[in-house]
Amino acid sequence: MEKRNKRRVILFPLPLQGCINPMLQLAKILFSRGFSITIIHTRFNAPKSSDHPLFTFLQLPDGLSETQTQSRDVLLQLTLLNNNCENPLRQCLTKLIKPEEGCEISCLIDDSGWVFTQSVADSFNLPRFVLCAYKFTFFLGHLLVPQLRREGFLPFPDSEAEDSVPVFQPLRKKDLARIMGSKDQAEPLDAYLVKILETMKQASGLIVMSCEELDRDSIAESHRVFTFPIYPIGPPHIHDVPASSSSLFEPDQSCIPWLDKQETRSVIYVSLGSIVSVTESQFLEIACGLSQTNLSFLWVVRPGSVQGREWIESLPLGFMEGLNGKGKIVKWAPQIDVLAHRATGGFLTHNGWNSTLESICEGVPMISLPFVWDQWLNARFVSDVWRIGIHLEGRIERRVIERTVTRLMVEPEGEKIRGRVKVLRDEVRRSVQRGGSSSRHLDDLVDRITSF
Ligand code: UDX
Repeated sequence: MEKRNKRRVILFPLPLQGCINPMLQLAKILFSRGFSITIIHTRFNAPKSSDHPLFTFLQLPDGLSETQTQSRDVLLQLTLLNNNCENPLRQCLTKLIKPEEGCEISCLIDDSGWVFTQSVADSFNLPRFVLCAYKFTFFLGHLLVPQLRREGFLPFPDSEAEDSVPVFQPLRKKDLARIMGSKDQAEPLDAYLVKILETMKQASGLIVMSCEELDRDSIAESHRVFTFPIYPIGPPHIHDVPASSSSLFEPDQSCIPWLDKQETRSVIYVSLGSIVSVTESQFLEIACGLSQTNLSFLWVVRPGSVQGREWIESLPLGFMEGLNGKGKIVKWAPQIDVLAHRATGGFLTHNGWNSTLESICEGVPMISLPFVWDQWLNARFVSDVWRIGIHLEGRIERRVIERTVTRLMVEPEGEKIRGRVKVLRDEVRRSVQRGGSSSRHLDDLVDRITSF
């Protein structure tokens, strides 16, 4: 057995798929640098410890009822978890911090969405790092929202306005209106964001799952908000560490042999991540739009993601048979392998930050269909700034989908977009290689943790 560093890092992810993946990937990176790893997690959306046999997993009782775990209201879930988990975390750390056993705990790394952890860490004299699992532009911008609302800048009178928001580039007013959600969400959301900013300012540093190549302007601007160091260590999954899954759902591995049978760059991959749900009529518009292209598609439909339905039972009778093998629907895919497959030529995505990064890292152009929160900003970067995808502008209509998929997959416009995403892919991948910007920031982070 390899002799491990006696220094241990404790990681405490927010229990959402989009936060668990980068946190566990960061754990693998730190493990590869010699740290021992403990993952503290909630019972809700607990990661599969058997996928990571070299880490220690400790589960906190989180007090969520069965109904609360099934709620679609993520803000409510996060509020309840923040209320319920402080004492369990305190008790867990008390048991862990036993210097007589010769294992020193270097620091706690958790998510900005945990608003009680700074005071807990302080009471144990434990340095706390915050993980930013969003694009950094969004991370900085969303913390401004309560102030914008206080100053009367929000809401905009016209929630469909196309003009840009100067203080939150490159968002358009209509995007920001959607990020802000409904009126009744404003108060709890703003209170949560204020608390995040307040507690985070006392942290020892911010680890950012992005790189200078994707976030240069906002990283340069960050010193106006934060006095602590920022570590943009790049997309975590392309660092050179052994692969293992952090999926909360079982990926359907039959996707890969199916893709093996398809022509190079002929398949459009469709997935809306782990949280988004669609109405039945939106689901049917997507289904018809895809089938009308006559192109091959691989579509992830999570059980329960079509509102009011179990899975895909609302598809018209004979829909799949009518595709003559050109379509495949699964409940969950091994996404990174799918994007890396030579047969995948495009990605119709909700633009969650992980999916956006994964697509860029494989040089796959996108069709943007954002639904909530940071997805609106990521989509604007994809379509308007990097120009590596086409924005659907929320038009979930079969003809628009058919036309957009065709433009991306087979028309000269798509070729140009593909060329640009490959250039960006190469820049981002170079950043994690020795001497690259992300690799240097990671070295600095490791030195800093070691110095405690
Ligand atoms: C959530 C928010 O929705 C998103 O806006 C925010 O940026 C992160 O948190 P989620 O909806 O899960 O994330 O999307 P995303 O960030 O793209 O993460 C999804 C992860 O699940 C990706 O790492 C992706 O590879 C993985 N995945 C998704 C699979 O492994 N298989 C699938 O079938 C679908």
